[in-house]
Amino acid sequence: MGPHTATGLVPERYRRMVLASRPVDKPDTTHFRLEEVGMPGVAAGQVLVRNRYLSIDPYMVGRMYTTQSYAAAQALGETMVGETAGHVIASQHPDFQIGDAVVGALGWQEYGVSDGTNLRRVDEQRAPLSAYLGMLGMTGVTAWYGINRICRPVEGDTVLVSAAAGAVGGVAVQLAKAKGCKVIGIAGGEQKCHYVTRVLGANACIDYRPLASKEALTEEIFKHAVDGVDAFFDNVNGWVLDAAFPAMSLGGRIALCGMIGRYGNRSMQLLSHHFLLLSRLTAQGFIVWDHVGEWGRAVDELSDLMDGGLLRSEETRAFGIEAAPHACLGLLAGKNVGKQLVQFY
Ligand SMILES: NC(=O)c1ccc[n+]([C@@H]2O[C@H](COP(=O)([O-])OP(=O)(O)OC[C@H]3O[C@@H](n4cnc5c(N)ncnc54)[C@H](OP(=O)(O)O)[C@@H]3O)[C@@H](O)[C@H]2O)c1
Repeated sequence: MGPHTATGLVPERYRRMVLASRPVDKPDTTHFRLEEVGMPGVAAGQVLVRNRYLSIDPYMVGRMYTTQSYAAAQALGETMVGETAGHVIASQHPDFQIGDAVVGALGWQEYGVSDGTNLRRVDEQRAPLSAYLGMLGMTGVTAWYGINRICRPVEGDTVLVSAAAGAVGGVAVQLAKAKGCKVIGIAGGEQKCHYVTRVLGANACIDYRPLASKEALTEEIFKHAVDGVDAFFDNVNGWVLDAAFPAMSLGGRIALCGMIGRYGNRSMQLLSHHFLLLSRLTAQGFIVWDHVGEWGRAVDELSDLMDGGLLRSEETRAFGIEAAPHACLGLLAGKNVGKQLVQFY
């Protein structure tokens, strides 16, 4: 029998997912291993959290490799890193009570112990718990930062967003729309494009999958942005970024948010980056964790937009920790619409 808490009996064992081996080429589910481990004790200054949701993010794929990145590679045999949302079920910490809804980085596991570092209480009255991993969490703040601090669009600007039906891209589309911009999305498939225009409110969406070349994508962008693109929020990099360079207007801004088009150790040559000079473009990469000082403001603004009905988010949920590897790898195949989560219970 495990320890008792105000919310019931805690099991003696729980499940976690570890990285079993590193991919050489493409990652697959055999690189993960599900393990059962004993429930840890809760020492003074610690809390025990039962995780309800796990955020699935593209960076997790990047960390399976040892190639150069802004973050350390995932350690072999250790619990996969990841953000979680759940409830405190035992507490020896003065700032957390049993029942508190919390978001933290407890990893791919059903329960986790924290000393309170980077654990934040969230308000389930204001938004459902899962939203704090999506539009009101790291995902939303990433879109907020890229749009407000790098793209800086003003009313009437034309804004292009790649992976527009995804978690970050979907928020970026809506933030640009809320500023009175003309928004063009890029997404894989007719259904996703339908979602980007009809649900998220973009003016147009380009399905890139049937396009045979980067030139064809450039042409499609120009069809919707005859005077060029003033700001590009890029989640993909590679040929999608390359196709956008010629379509940028003079003085255009590019937020280099992600490079999911390069994951899986794919390297790509950019052939059109001379437009950076020709069109006097500014392209700036950013990592949301470098700007934690802006999180409070970003979440306040995102919450206000949500309250005003100007921000919504689709979720794609997988169920049970055993489904996490498949959900994670599914990001590379574009299986998700909106925020990809794993729900544990
Ligand atoms: N800079 C930061 O601090 C920061 C923070 C968070 C996320 N990010 C980055 O932001 C991007 C989006 O993250 P997210 O969490 O919102 O993921 P997401 O967009 O919800 O999911 C990934 C999407 O990328 C698209 N995709 C996958 N492979 C592709 C390829 N080869 N070419 C073109 N599109 C491809 C797929 O959509 P389609 O079906 O439309 O292709 C897929 O659904 C990622 O690159 C991520 O690394 C950066």
